[in-house]
Amino acid sequence: MTVIKRKMTQVRPFFKLRTAKAKDVKYIRKLIYGLIYNESIEFYLRIIVSKFFFVFIIAFILKLIHLHSGITIFDVIFTIIVVVYLIRSLFFLFHPFYSPVNWKKYKLIESDRGLIVGCTAIDYYKHCSILGNLYVKKAWRKRGLGSALLKFSIKKIDRPIYLVSKKKNINFYKRNGFILVSWEDLPSTVKASFKIYQPHPRLWGYPLCFMQYKGHNTVAFTYEI
Ligand SMILES: CC(C)(COP(=O)(O)OP(=O)(O)OC[C@H]1O[C@@H](n2cnc3c(N)ncnc32)[C@H](O)[C@@H]1OP(=O)(O)O)[C@@H](O)C(=O)NCCC(=O)NCCS
Repeated sequence: MTVIKRKMTQVRPFFKLRTAKAKDVKYIRKLIYGLIYNESIEFYLRIIVSKFFFVFIIAFILKLIHLHSGITIFDVIFTIIVVVYLIRSLFFLFHPFYSPVNWKKYKLIESDRGLIVGCTAIDYYKHCSILGNLYVKKAWRKRGLGSALLKFSIKKIDRPIYLVSKKKNINFYKRNGFILVSWEDLPSTVKASFKIYQPHPRLWGYPLCFMQYKGHNTVAFTYEI
């Protein structure tokens, strides 16, 4: 009997860029978990702690006013406020687990084995659009996939595109045709949508930048898609 030995050749992974479908919801949700709990957890905790701090200061002042009077109505009110705030914070922190995913606004990058490795979402407004939730799984980064997904997602957008970025990603976006914009120069719709990201003391040490697409693509690397 003759045995035919086949030489295995390494196949370069093939990626597909596409618009999301309803069946992708559970994969998109997983990517959102990755984005929030691996990349943005500090941001979420800062928001929660800064608000909690405010509640705590008010309660402390109230307690100082009624220092010698056992349990007062203020203590009861304070306890209620803290409990309500804690519950709200938990909902805020775990919102990716229960809030519905609007899959229609997502673009995806998928490997040849059907593995969805990255996503981004676009919100359309009357005079502008906002690109958000850009995320590529850690193991698949630095191969041009993020840039390819970005390019694919914005190529048909017919109105100004804005985004908010962590400082460490600024070069990535600049390479892909975005420029920095100050908070003051953002359109009011974008400001309203970015309210939570606006310059604020709670974000000291966690600077966020606002960027607008200018269409001049300077990406200098290539990767087969
Ligand atoms: C930001 C993010 C989407 C980029 O995805 P990515 O697939 O790594 O993007 P790319 O591979 O196109 O580019 C990333 C870097 O790799 C480099 N690169 C790309 N292809 C390369 C290659 N073949 N060889 C070497 N380097 C390469 C690029 O030059 C780029 O460098 P830069 O960041 O200095 O510009 C990804 O890092 C991510 O998901 N981060 C966490 C989530 C996040 O921060 N999202 C954005 C919210 S602001």
